[in-house]
Amino acid sequence: MNAVFPGSFDPITSGHMDVLTRAAKIFDQVTVTVMHNARKQGRHLFTLEERMDILREATAHFPNVRVDTFGGLLVDYMARQETGSVIVRGLRAVSDYEYELQIAHLNRQIGDAETVFIMAATRWSFVSSSMVREIASYGGDVSEMVPRASASALRRKHADVYAEREAEKQNPALLGR
Ligand code: PNS
Repeated sequence: MNAVFPGSFDPITSGHMDVLTRAAKIFDQVTVTVMHNARKQGRHLFTLEERMDILREATAHFPNVRVDTFGGLLVDYMARQETGSVIVRGLRAVSDYEYELQIAHLNRQIGDAETVFIMAATRWSFVSSSMVREIASYGGDVSEMVPRASASALRRKHADVYAEREAEKQNPALLGR
């Protein structure tokens, strides 16, 4: 049985990686698909190409994971998959459940698409792409919260801020200026 793991992945976090690792053990093939989230329109840090490059690098060690993108409805994408394919979504905490349950029901109603939830390990309950983006925008250390590919991309994106923070570490008198 195959699975599709859809999301914005801006960028992929250790929580996503945890869910993906679990999914890759359960399913024959997992496709990580970068999709549009209307609620996040115009608020992306990384371009679609950048997000896909990060994903390819972060998932290269999985023999049964591939990366894809689709610009339409998830149910239309699912209709193009092998029969019986399911959607995989990760749950970090109960707070994720209400939103995810609504989408899962809608996807079943409009496209007969089945969703399987995989619980991320509790150590990732507080990690989200948005929090990671915010910490990185101030030059904070996110290396524990994201795979190496995401950490490198965040450092490149905020190279000036990280350089400034490094200078502050060398010379604390510059701190917070
Ligand atoms: O990582 P995200 O942003 O929580 O992922 C949400 C995503 C991209 C999977 C969801 O917004 C989605 O399925 N987008 C495709 C368009 C669609 O099918 N919308 C209807 C369900 S909300």
